[in-house]
Amino acid sequence: KHIIFLGAPGAGKGTQAQRLSQYLHLPHVSTGDMLRASVQSGSEIGRRAAAVMDSGALVSDDIIMDIVAERLTLEDALAGVIFDGFPRTVHQANALDALLERGGSQISAVLHIALDDEEIVERLSGRRVCSGCGAIYHVLYHPAQTSGKCDICGADVVQREDDHPDVIRKRLAVYEAETAPLVAYYHDRPAYHRIDGHGETDVVFARIVEAVRDKD
Ligand code: AP5
Ligand code: ZN
Repeated sequence: KHIIFLGAPGAGKGTQAQRLSQYLHLPHVSTGDMLRASVQSGSEIGRRAAAVMDSGALVSDDIIMDIVAERLTLEDALAGVIFDGFPRTVHQANALDALLERGGSQISAVLHIALDDEEIVERLSGRRVCSGCGAIYHVLYHPAQTSGKCDICGADVVQREDDHPDVIRKRLAVYEAETAPLVAYYHDRPAYHRIDGHGETDVVFARIVEAVRDKD
C-alpha cells in the first residue's frame, strides 16, 4: 500500500499522516521532516536546503529524489509507505510512478486534503512543533499540556522558521504554481480522493479512514 498525502501547506497532511501511519502500521515518509533533519545535522544537503526552505521555495527535484530513493528500503517498497509532502511537482510525481513501477507496485491512494486559505493561515500561524520527535501542536486547537514542552518526549516545542506570515504567503503561492497541478495529474485515477480538511482532527481522520478502506 503506497499512500500519498496531497494538499496545501497547513492543510493537515502531517497531522493526519502521523495518525494514519500508526493506524495502518506503515512508515511515515515526510520529505519536509527529512529535510529538517538534514538541516539540523549540518550535512551538505541540509546546508543547501536550509536557505531554500526558509524562503518558502521548493528544494530541487534532484535533491528530493535522492533523499526519497535513499529512504525507501526494499522492505518499504514491498509493504508500502505513507508519503507526506511528496511528490510536490509533476517531475517528482513522474519519478515516483517510475520508481514504484520498477518495484512492481503502484499508488493505492492519493488523499488530497482541501482547506480554504483563511483557515490555512490560521492553522499555520498558530502551529508549534516538537524539536525532538516532530509532534505537531497548535496554540489554540492542540496545545501542549505543559506550555512549551512536548507531551510525548518532553523536548521544547517551537515555531517553524517558515511559519512566519510573509513566508506563509510565499509557500501558498508556490503551492498554487508548482503543486496544485498534481491534482489534475492524479484526478482521474481511481486512487484519487478529495478529503474535506475542515472540522476537527478526528472528523477529518474518519473521512480518511473511509477513503482508504475503499481500497482494501
Ligand atoms: P513541509 O514540511 O512538507 O511543509 P508543508 O507542505 O508546507 O506542510 P506543512 O507541514 O506546513 O503543513 P501540513 O499540511 O503538514 O499541516 P499540519 O498537519 O502541520 O515542507 C517544508 C518545506 O520543505 C517546503 O516549503 C519545501 O521548501 C521543502 N520540501 C518538502 N518536501 C518537498 C518536496 N517534495 N519537494 C520540494 N521541496 C520540498 O497542520 C498545520 C497546523 O494545523 C498544526 O498546528 C496542526 O496542529 C493544526 N491542525 C491540523 N489539523 C487540524 C484540524 N483538523 N483542526 C484544527 N487544527 C488542525
Ligand atoms: Zn516530542
